[in-house]
Amino acid sequence: MAEQNRTPHTRTASYLAEPGEVHRVLLLYSGGLDTSVMLKWIQDEYEAEVVALTVNLGQPGEDYDVVQGKALQLGAVAAEVVDAREEFARDFVVPAIKANAVYGLAYPLFTALGRPLIAKLAVEYARRHGCDTVAHGCTGKGNDQVRIEATVATLAPELKVIAPVRGWQMGREEEIAYAREHGIAIKGGAEHTPYSIDDNLWGRSSEGRWIEQLDHAPDDDVFQLVTRPELAPDEPEIVTVGFERGVPVALNGEPLGIVDLLERAAEIGCRHGVGIVDHIEDRIVGLKVRDIYEVPAAAIILPAHAELERLVGTIHQNQFKGELDRKWAYLVYAGLWWEPLRTDLDAYMEAVNAQVTGTIGMKLFKGTARVVTRESPNAVYDAALSTFETSGGLFSQQASPGFIELWSLQSRMAHRLRTRGEG
Ligand code: ARG
Repeated sequence: MAEQNRTPHTRTASYLAEPGEVHRVLLLYSGGLDTSVMLKWIQDEYEAEVVALTVNLGQPGEDYDVVQGKALQLGAVAAEVVDAREEFARDFVVPAIKANAVYGLAYPLFTALGRPLIAKLAVEYARRHGCDTVAHGCTGKGNDQVRIEATVATLAPELKVIAPVRGWQMGREEEIAYAREHGIAIKGGAEHTPYSIDDNLWGRSSEGRWIEQLDHAPDDDVFQLVTRPELAPDEPEIVTVGFERGVPVALNGEPLGIVDLLERAAEIGCRHGVGIVDHIEDRIVGLKVRDIYEVPAAAIILPAHAELERLVGTIHQNQFKGELDRKWAYLVYAGLWWEPLRTDLDAYMEAVNAQVTGTIGMKLFKGTARVVTRESPNAVYDAALSTFETSGGLFSQQASPGFIELWSLQSRMAHRLRTRGEG
């Protein structure tokens, strides 16, 4: 009887760790409140060792020595910091640029692109340190848990996962109390609730606080990266972006490595107030959430790339690619970076981008970034053909009426059928 009445302990997923399986944990450690509390909590709760891993994806202003010191002080047996900016830019952001990747018409996916890399590194370092489990600080309401756990489960079936925030039922107040009790320093103090921030070299998001009130217009203090447009310089600035085969390679004529280029573009964009996004997003777990994004580099690079791509592509390629771009962005948003369809799509993106070489000028002014100049050896454009000035040559205007008659044939027939009897 008693045996039958006991609530069966069921795992909701095969990759989740049972308490007895957790001996050495690779914790994805940001240095913030959640993962700092977690670093201690895992040691107490599981009597397990913790190896902390902090990944540098170009979060502006982060002091990684401080984060590492904090991890060790909280009892981590090792604290690794990896500078993954180059890999992030080259293998994640560049493919996103080639796919003109935005989700929900506005979000350039910086977080969604970062998570599979962070989780891939978690797997590498977990193996290197002989860990049996990966721990992360994501909640049960977001997309990041999906991206991280899908990656770990895909790349390392032998590793288990724990996600303490999903289960420990501590709110911010309890976490602060726990932190005080265990001597965990709270970055920025405990007085005010901070925004929930995530950032890397491709953008920054803010969530929480008044952002959850849809009728609350942005308070100025949310913008920690981009200058508010009303405070941006009164003089516009033109920045040119050079591309080779879809990859941004130069700014204002100066050849730059991809990380430098993206950081430099962000700087210029920040100055002119470009890349502020305030939008409602459909998360894959069903929730609608409001996000404030600051994406100064993406606001310059993505429209420049899209413009150049349109210039070198045919009408048919240009119509088709948008659909594939949307699919690419959705897969990545939805945590399926390792899905073969994404790599299949990348093969198409590569093929199209083979022609995407040239330079686009963007004019930045008080929050806007607008294409103003274009140049490409591969442009499917001939000024002599398109001009209003002269006629004749290769393009025969005399041929146009014949084209129009045939082009509109079915539409005209159908229209006649639908309007017969109308006198
Ligand atoms: N809504 C965006 C996304 O799902 C940004 C999430 C930011 N992540 C965070 N942990 N604050 O990609």
